[in-house]
Amino acid sequence: MLDVQVIENMEELLTVNNLKKHFPLQKGFIDNLLAKEKGFVRAVDGVSFSIKKGEVLGLVGESGCGKTTTGRLILRLLEPTSGDVFYNGKSIFSYSKKEMEGMREKLQIIFQDPYASLSPRMAIGKAIGHPLAIHNHKPKAEVEQISLEIMEKVGLTPASFLFKKYPHQLSGGQRQRVVIARALVTNPEFVVADEPIAMADVSVRAMILELMVQLKEEFDLTYLFITHDLATSKYICDRVAIMYLGKIVEMGPLEEVFKNPIHPYTGTLLAAVPVPDPKYRRTYPIPKGEIPSPINPPPGCRFHPRCASAKSMCSIHEPELVEVHSGHWVACFE
Ligand SMILES: Nc1ncnc2c1ncn2[C@@H]1O[C@H](COP(=O)(O)OP(=O)(O)O)[C@@H](O)[C@H]1O
Ligand SMILES: [Mg+2]
Repeated sequence: MLDVQVIENMEELLTVNNLKKHFPLQKGFIDNLLAKEKGFVRAVDGVSFSIKKGEVLGLVGESGCGKTTTGRLILRLLEPTSGDVFYNGKSIFSYSKKEMEGMREKLQIIFQDPYASLSPRMAIGKAIGHPLAIHNHKPKAEVEQISLEIMEKVGLTPASFLFKKYPHQLSGGQRQRVVIARALVTNPEFVVADEPIAMADVSVRAMILELMVQLKEEFDLTYLFITHDLATSKYICDRVAIMYLGKIVEMGPLEEVFKNPIHPYTGTLLAAVPVPDPKYRRTYPIPKGEIPSPINPPPGCRFHPRCASAKSMCSIHEPELVEVHSGHWVACFE
């Protein structure tokens, strides 16, 4: 468990401490009346990590494990069930609504699906400048100028030509660039990138990743980079945190986790990473069965029903996330 003292270490830009989000189950009226206790989806169930200024932390795990919910909590787009998030040493949940408005410029999100996050009826130039228009009420001409500049920087060129285009008139790669430009227009410090390449064609994924690395340097950014695909994290992350059913099961420097994975779940994710060597044979077993429901997560270690190395204690006791080497954290009895 992360110590609260970490917060005093100013090197950490963001510290997440035992964060939980349990969504109440939506049931019918009769079901609710008859139910003995309320059910919850344990989307995020005690997550702790920190991110240094300028660092890229990858949050990696299968669909439904709670990555997006974690990202939304960090930006206070959702209120937590419990736990805290400290930004520059101050709890973001202690900010008033008005103070939080000011923080919105510094904390931004790049959404997964550009179609869902862009209005089909707003020209992209206007969409990119929209956060500026609503957050700091800048004059229209100035907003336009800033939007054109950021469009050039993310490769939406010629910017003046594309400014008046609508999302459906662009390619998938261009739409993703619009979403990136809109997140950067307020000059943020910290960006949650929620699967920014998942919806893009394979041919443009590498370009978008490269752009994100370049923009990080240019704008002095810190990223939480969310992905379901461990292979992608290789190109951009300094450290990775592996998430399974609402919990972090392993976390450490990228190279260390790739070379020396300790949690069996990390091993199974690594087995899915393609290796350009025809003689290479898989060394990790594919997990059994499907990911269980976060409504009633298995007792003990949540991965035990699918784990090839599970022992009897794994179904009874829940392993804590402990530091096994410097900076390498694992929640496993192995
Ligand atoms: N607003 C919500 N209400 C109820 N359940 C939710 C809500 N948002 C997410 N969930 C559930 O929480 C779990 C984690 O979801 P999510 O954070 O989107 O995972 P990921 O991004 O890793 O795919 C899923 O089981 C999902 O169905
Ligand atoms: Mg998601």
